[in-house]
Amino acid sequence: MPQQPVIAILNGPNLNLLGEREPEVYGHDTLADVERRCRARADELGLAVDFRQTNHEGVMIDAIHELRSSAAGFVVNAAGWTHTSVAIRDALAAVRGPIVEVHLSDIHAREEFRHFSYISDLAVEVIVGRGVTGYEDALTLLAEPREDGDRGAFSTP
Ligand code: DQA
Repeated sequence: MPQQPVIAILNGPNLNLLGEREPEVYGHDTLADVERRCRARADELGLAVDFRQTNHEGVMIDAIHELRSSAAGFVVNAAGWTHTSVAIRDALAAVRGPIVEVHLSDIHAREEFRHFSYISDLAVEVIVGRGVTGYEDALTLLAEPREDGDRGAFSTP
């Protein structure tokens, strides 16, 4: 059987506290629930998933480097680093596959400091405010053939 394309799902700081942390903003699902739902959707789509979360910026950068050429696509919720980190942006600028940026909450409807994202212009799509469904939608989107060819999840390097 041919190997399934691997989608890297990368979660930034504090997302390990999902379900406990500000549930009125982020909902009651835990990160384990997010992972379970992502794996279920990926199964339906014939994708494999490499799901990670870290609170350490260097660990995230190393993970992006590690997956830079091997991952067919990236679903990235960089959490607070979205609004602060040139270094994470630079690492993501070096990946081969398409990036979908995901946020559980609608960052554009919240505090002004959340409106700017260092990642959005690298992403083929930015999904905000759909909760965990946003992650599933990102996977579905990455499984679709893309018209711009060279950034498609299934395009050959
Ligand atoms: C978040 C939004 C960010 O502004 C925030 O720092 C997070 C989570 C979201 O998923 O809605 O930690 O990325």
